[in-house]
Amino acid sequence: MSAPAPRPRVGILISGRGSNMVSLVEAAQAEGFPAEIALVLSNVPGAGGLDRAKEFGIATATVDHRAFNRDREAFERAMDEVLRVNQIDLVVLAGFMRIMTPWFVRRWEGRMINIHPSLLPLFKGTHTHRQALEAGVVEHGCSVHFVVPELDAGPVIMQAKVPVLPEDDEDTLASRVLVQEHLLYPRALAEVASGRAALVDGAVVRR
Ligand code: GRF
Repeated sequence: MSAPAPRPRVGILISGRGSNMVSLVEAAQAEGFPAEIALVLSNVPGAGGLDRAKEFGIATATVDHRAFNRDREAFERAMDEVLRVNQIDLVVLAGFMRIMTPWFVRRWEGRMINIHPSLLPLFKGTHTHRQALEAGVVEHGCSVHFVVPELDAGPVIMQAKVPVLPEDDEDTLASRVLVQEHLLYPRALAEVASGRAALVDGAVVRR
């Protein structure tokens, strides 16, 4: 019998508490999950998610963007080197609060995904829950998408919806969406890591 194909090695990029990162790590512990979480990288020294990753025994790294004097590409080259050294195949953005240059995005095209707390193409950018409340929508949610140079504009791999309730404020809505994020992201990562979803000519193709 031939040996099973090696699972893609995933690097998760975070800037904060890392609750999505934890949900991905926990999902990847299940037998048969088609990816291995090999690295958690933060651009913020001391980000809460780094300690959580260490508790799981996952390699961590910090590349502080502030050390690069606003030279975004130099910062990304430093991150890219850490990803290369750790033999990362797939990059997963999970609350990573830096906008990538086209250079980095092209380098990881089709191999980098993000989770965004809205039903894209609605409510790009920040404060998505506030945007949803102000727009008066009755349905909100989250999207996992391939990353393309334009912010929050990449082809959507999967979405999850939640109702918006009359008594909602930003916090209650964010909490309801976050529960769905934690369920959605591992499913979407499994699709991409197994090759069942791929970016082809700027669109998501299912196989
Ligand atoms: C999540 O809501 C994610 O969708 C957004 O930032 C938040 C990060 O939360 N991009 P966490 O760090 O994963 O807990």
